[in-house]
Amino acid sequence: MTGYQAIYQRYKQQILAGSLKAGEKVPAIRVLAADLGVAKKTVETAYNILIGEGYLVSKGARGTIVNPDLKLKPANEQTVNKVDDQKLQQLIDLRDNAGFFRLGIPALDEFPYKKWLLLSGKDIRAMRPEHMLTPPVMGYAPLREAIANYVNISRGLNCTASQVCITSGYKHSLALILQALATRHDKVVYEDPGYFFGQKLLKRIAENLHYVPVDSQGLNVDYLLNYQRDARFVITTPAHHSPLAVTLSLPRRQQLLQWAQEQQAWIVEDDYDGEFHYTKKVLPALKSQDSADRVIYVGTFSKTIMPAMRISYIVLPKALINRFHETAEIVETSLPLLPQQILSRFISEGHFFKHLKKMRTLYQARRQMVLNALHSVYPTQFYVELTDGGMHIVAFLKTGNQDEQLATIWQQHQLLVFPLSAWYAGKTKRYGLVIGYTNIQSEQQATEALRLPYEQTLALLG
Ligand SMILES: Cc1ncc(COP(=O)(O)O)c(C=O)c1O
Repeated sequence: MTGYQAIYQRYKQQILAGSLKAGEKVPAIRVLAADLGVAKKTVETAYNILIGEGYLVSKGARGTIVNPDLKLKPANEQTVNKVDDQKLQQLIDLRDNAGFFRLGIPALDEFPYKKWLLLSGKDIRAMRPEHMLTPPVMGYAPLREAIANYVNISRGLNCTASQVCITSGYKHSLALILQALATRHDKVVYEDPGYFFGQKLLKRIAENLHYVPVDSQGLNVDYLLNYQRDARFVITTPAHHSPLAVTLSLPRRQQLLQWAQEQQAWIVEDDYDGEFHYTKKVLPALKSQDSADRVIYVGTFSKTIMPAMRISYIVLPKALINRFHETAEIVETSLPLLPQQILSRFISEGHFFKHLKKMRTLYQARRQMVLNALHSVYPTQFYVELTDGGMHIVAFLKTGNQDEQLATIWQQHQLLVFPLSAWYAGKTKRYGLVIGYTNIQSEQQATEALRLPYEQTLALLG
């Protein structure tokens, strides 16, 4: 398709897809013609047809706009955007919609907005021409430094800034690790159950994907040794399993590290909630015991600062630094500079530690509010195996396996809980609701929210 037809089709598609909205102004004929390098007549012909068919309206000297009276069937938009997987779509909705008990997000009401804005202002005012260049692919040097200091002090690592690679979220870290190190046929092992979005990504990019069950001691390392010993990558959440919230026991940690050393395999330690332990003494990260340098440590600021920032990091074994640097250059991993600058200031000026301390106390209290409310509204329907930390609880069903139906009912009342069974890849599952508590502000609020689906819950569970 050439000339005016191509322009006509492009506009029609954009309008039908809803990308160009009713009333929106389109470029002047002369401007678009210059932009596309075509004659004015070509654009004029396309616009005239679009006007004739009612997609555009000419407003004389004020230009041409998308017809404000155009009525598009909402179904059009739906089919363009809908994800072809019901569970995935459901979880995306839970992540993005407003409601109670949202999973995995920090307390939005207690974020130190003023401090953040103040630091942002400082960095915006300090902008110089050199800040307009592409940021380094491994990340902004002061941020890498600040992260190395933080994980060394808080999580017991012993790394230098040169080992830190800044990424834009956990899945980005995972993809980069596999891109840098894995061949298509390498065996990759993931926890079962495991973080839903991580599992989705791996199903797409790892051809030889297997699962190892998780019990009250964390990843079942005996199972790994018996059935998946030849794995090249094990991806695990030792500090705080997702979603069962259990901690990998010390003997299993040692077994796992020894296996990795013997097999020359890689352990990817996802320390995503390692900051939030409330009662017991915090176990240092698995990476802190990794004398053979087989652990690739990944962390994120999504839980401690905000998911919107999309800043996470990998702490690399020393032997992998060059390989990652090269991969990062090739696939271009630079993140926008400004958020990295603000964050590094936030950490190095001590605000991050203060914020974490405050959030630990707050989350512990909020968790108790939700536990009390759950117990008072549903004294016989659920049980909770209380673990030490994290940002959510799992309310296991005392009987039955209808967590999917139950979650659907609760979601209809804007309670954004997720059915535990959906996190499992294998046939052996447990059933319950995964409930975030970080944004619950009082026991009364939690109780009122939990009462919303009361009748239907009792009708389903008895
Ligand atoms: C197990 C696990 N790892 C990592 C993350 C962090 O995700 P991201 O850094 O992509 O926001 C999450 C978020 O919910 C998670 O549940």
